[in-house]
Amino acid sequence: MSLKATIAAEIAARGPMPFERFMELSLYHPEGFFGGSKLRSEKAGDFLTSPEVSPLFGRTLARFVATERARIGEPFQVVEVGAGSGSLLRPLLEEVRAPAVAVDVSPAARASLAASLPDVEISETIPDRVRGVVIANELLDNLPMALAQRVGGAWRERWVGLEGDDLVFVDAPVRPAVAGWLEQHAAEVGDGGWVEVQLAAGEWVRDVLGRMQSGSLLIIDYGGTSEDLLPRRGDGTLRTYQSHHLGPHPLDFPGETDITADVEFSAIAAAARDAGAEVELVRQDDFLAGLGLREHLSELRAAELEAAREGDHDRRLRLRTVKTEIETLLHPRGLGGFMVLVAKRP
Ligand SMILES: C[S@@+](CC[C@H](N)C(=O)[O-])C[C@H]1O[C@@H](n2cnc3c(N)ncnc32)[C@H](O)[C@@H]1O
Repeated sequence: MSLKATIAAEIAARGPMPFERFMELSLYHPEGFFGGSKLRSEKAGDFLTSPEVSPLFGRTLARFVATERARIGEPFQVVEVGAGSGSLLRPLLEEVRAPAVAVDVSPAARASLAASLPDVEISETIPDRVRGVVIANELLDNLPMALAQRVGGAWRERWVGLEGDDLVFVDAPVRPAVAGWLEQHAAEVGDGGWVEVQLAAGEWVRDVLGRMQSGSLLIIDYGGTSEDLLPRRGDGTLRTYQSHHLGPHPLDFPGETDITADVEFSAIAAAARDAGAEVELVRQDDFLAGLGLREHLSELRAAELEAAREGDHDRRLRLRTVKTEIETLLHPRGLGGFMVLVAKRP
């Protein structure tokens, strides 16, 4: 049975399902987007993330990790959740030699991680106790979310129902937890506006910080604060990706597309503060610049000019390639505009 048929059968038996259930099945079911044998986060996959753009992303984050290690001392470990192909952890560990755990729900990702990071513990779950740094790059945007729309001044949920063989959005009353989240983080959204209600992301943050004895949680993703996201609330930010391009309607090909939405970082920050962490929220370009990436870019520019003067075309080309990668990581309207949330525990 196809995943769409499995979802349709569940709806036929039990009635319409909340959107977070649809998203959970679409992404995490054994037949789901992350369930199969395909590695999704690599250059040939469905999306291009910062660590896939350049190993300098992991190398630069290593400076943050080293500072945290100096702050909290030993024992110290690095945990990456949603480690994908290992393109972040590999260069990071070349700079900071520390015990590490690579966590991923996808069997394909775990197989790739085991092959390319032989000294790293590979796991499907986050360790019970962590003392060190936990990193999650482009993970929270996939955690199942509820979907709500403001109609006539009141909130309604959008669940998933069946119309013939098609999966369609159906109207449903708003559940109390969803209403509470909306009141706190989407009160200014106007009539007709769609909001992805990210309760699971908040729970994930509380859970990770609950396991953390000392250290910090680093969350990097697309999205913004409630205020940043307000102009995008007309149609909402729910979307799909497939083979590096915006994909079809989220209900049309469950399991075949990456379903995602902008991360609501005000809610994430609130969850981290609730869990007792000290929170800092900055843009990726500023965060990487603070760790010295802009200086590195200037050095590369100078070296490229030097290579040009010497007529060393191969070296010039190599330097230019790295320079372009860094510019991509820092691009203010691209990856540089992603948000970085640091939640620190003493
Ligand atoms: C968008 S990819 C990002 C991969 C990598 N962090 C990067 O930046 O290239 C998301 C990764 O997170 C994994 N993933 C998704 N949900 C997860 C969860 N709840 N727990 C652990 N891993 C998860 C997926 O299998 C996938 O490898």
